[in-house]
Amino acid sequence: MDRTRLRRGGGIAAGALLLSTTLAASTAATPAAGIGDRYFPDYGNPGYDVAHYDLRLDYEPATDLLAGTATIDATATQDLPHFSLDFLLDVESVRVNGEPATHRSNDHKLTVVPARPVAAGRRLTAVVRYADTPSQITRHGTTAWWRTREGAVVVGEPESAWWWFPSNDHPRDKATFDVRVTVPEGLQVVSNGVLTDTTVHNGRVRYTWRETAPQATYLATMAIGRYQVRTARMSDGLPVVTAYDTDLGDDLAAARASLERTGEIVEWESELFGRYPFTSTGGIATAAGIRFALETQTRPVYSPRFFRRGPNTYIVAHEIAHQWFGNSVSVADWSDIWLNEGFATYTEWMWSEDEGEGTVRELADWVYHLHPADDEFWQVPPGDLGAGRLFAPAVYQRGALAVHALRAEVGDAAFFEILRTWLAEHRYGNASIAEFIAHAEAVSGAELKPLFDAWLFTKGRPEAAVAEEAGINP
Ligand code: ARG
Ligand code: ZN
Repeated sequence: MDRTRLRRGGGIAAGALLLSTTLAASTAATPAAGIGDRYFPDYGNPGYDVAHYDLRLDYEPATDLLAGTATIDATATQDLPHFSLDFLLDVESVRVNGEPATHRSNDHKLTVVPARPVAAGRRLTAVVRYADTPSQITRHGTTAWWRTREGAVVVGEPESAWWWFPSNDHPRDKATFDVRVTVPEGLQVVSNGVLTDTTVHNGRVRYTWRETAPQATYLATMAIGRYQVRTARMSDGLPVVTAYDTDLGDDLAAARASLERTGEIVEWESELFGRYPFTSTGGIATAAGIRFALETQTRPVYSPRFFRRGPNTYIVAHEIAHQWFGNSVSVADWSDIWLNEGFATYTEWMWSEDEGEGTVRELADWVYHLHPADDEFWQVPPGDLGAGRLFAPAVYQRGALAVHALRAEVGDAAFFEILRTWLAEHRYGNASIAEFIAHAEAVSGAELKPLFDAWLFTKGRPEAAVAEEAGINP
């Protein structure tokens, strides 16, 4: 329980008593609090499947007040006397299928009791009205809401949606998005997909963004502030929207020299991985104090730190690789995160070689020797990191070594065939590491369990003989 929530007390007044008795009676029969993730058992929610989020928001940078309405279009997958959404902000009201519903907030869960239960297979439309100051709320010592001098940007993994819209917050439940945000005139709003409308009214400006491909909730973003926005077109017409915070200062030139190569990188990766899965691309260079980049769908967000020492196209190659590995084909469970980071990092190595810098082989060699055998680095198996170590260096570096070992074992032709068929077969879906291993074995005809055991699941540095088979000089 955080202080902010206690201070505010319940926003539900009259319905509270009724709600608590209804909940006590009905939750007893409900086993799981979340969707069933191995690392984050209370993230996401069972019982329904979201098809679309429509967010109509208003943001006031001076006060950090975010207010608006989220309409969640879902289908019940079981009888629902009540259901939950993941959300941290203060909720004013909830309606379900057109009728007022009671609601209660507890930690990151918003529990809703519809006036009438929603039967399995039926449409569930939830309209949630809310208003709050996201910057005042932290969870697990963190936030995804980063205020900037004139705005804010929302970016975080796995937790991100909690700070700005109610959702079924797990990659297993992807949906399409309409994001409409009204801000003071002079500011910009950049989100995922394409800008479909800009309307100025009464000194305020309203931006409407639309993402039509299924999108995991943590991949939704919104950047508000003063941005230089450029829309270019790739040769096939795909829009490339790049946005640069005007407060980037000395980092602006290098940010531009990096992000302006996005279209070229999308083309290069399309040759390796197959057709680009989305209908727009681009990137957002924020001046916010984040220390990472995130592959938010079609439009990754980049920390200014990446550009402090000059252009960095590796981070662009990495985040664009995630559009295939992570965004189109998403983890079934957060414990599958190697499927995202291992491949995105390996793509950086391939980009390096293509750019005439270090070759893949040199980089694999370098990483293997960078960490001595007794280094703690090797104690973290990328195939089973643990919830608290989702982004440990091992998932990136050792994760890329695992990809490299696979390529060395099966050869280039089978390796790229494995990747392309994997991405095509699971396009817009979810998949697990176990499925990847089975797929790689099926395509190559090779027995790969020992290789993946050594590189993904076993603590300790793989033996010299194993490294040698991966093309590493031991
Ligand atoms: N998926 C992101 C990347 O590829 C990692 C984000 C790490 N998140 C964090 N809070 N450090 O780089
Ligand atoms: Zn990554």
